[in-house]
Amino acid sequence: MLTQPTEKDDNLVQWIRNGIAVRVFGSDVDASQSVASEIAALIRQRAAEGESCVLGLATGSTPVRVYRELIRIHREENLSMKHVVTFNLDEYFPMQPDAAQSYVRFMNEQLFDHVDIPRSSIHIPDGTIGRDGVDEYCQQYEDAINVAGGIDLQLLGIGRTGHVGFNEPGSEVDSATRLVELCDITRSDAANDFGGLDNTPELAITMGVGTILRSRRIRLLAFGQHKSAIVARSVQGEITDSVPATYLQGHDDVQFALDSAAASTLDPK
Ligand code: F6R
Repeated sequence: MLTQPTEKDDNLVQWIRNGIAVRVFGSDVDASQSVASEIAALIRQRAAEGESCVLGLATGSTPVRVYRELIRIHREENLSMKHVVTFNLDEYFPMQPDAAQSYVRFMNEQLFDHVDIPRSSIHIPDGTIGRDGVDEYCQQYEDAINVAGGIDLQLLGIGRTGHVGFNEPGSEVDSATRLVELCDITRSDAANDFGGLDNTPELAITMGVGTILRSRRIRLLAFGQHKSAIVARSVQGEITDSVPATYLQGHDDVQFALDSAAASTLDPK
């Protein structure tokens, strides 16, 4: 286990543990702004190289401030996102794109309606596919990521089960985009959005762990006390399929951007 304090100022404490660069910010806003700045810089760098920038995107409450900051940079600092290509991690199944809980709708409202990413460059797993066509569809999603050149930077949140995307406990390290069953904890965390557990989907389409690990950079955000136990387990625990986020320890450019509450169970030694 490697532990190296690498940087410290009033707002940021950073160290490396099990290959994960852990960055603890003064607030979720600071953490989100830092990750958004990195994404903006990467988009500009790729554009200067004449290349598109391929982003893997997450939904949920955690990345909302990153998207808000990217919209601000787009508007106030002239960040063109015309050459950005996006792949979202997941979508409930089945799910209509215009439903209140749809991740298509979420992404439109939180980011896509406010920036200039071409609609044709946006990919979100399709929750309307017929059950018979899901496997083929998932293979096409993997193919589309490969054709785009692979993901430059994958944004992640983390669920209380240790899921990344909807890769629940039991997911394999080399898993690909597929239809999965959601855990009870994940469904109960989502139940409010669906007006109760009975209405909450049991299935989702998600990028696999292997898909996520092929991204060139991975930036996981986690905020709040309720994430602290699973963050500590993911960073300090041994790699196991019962906590899929522990697989991130095997990636060579992964950072966790945390607020102090989410970092509160971590041992910074
Ligand atoms: C969402 C996703 C999930 C969430 C996780 C945390 O696209 O893939 O893994 O990132 O469930 O959700 P929030 O941010 O709502 O706590």
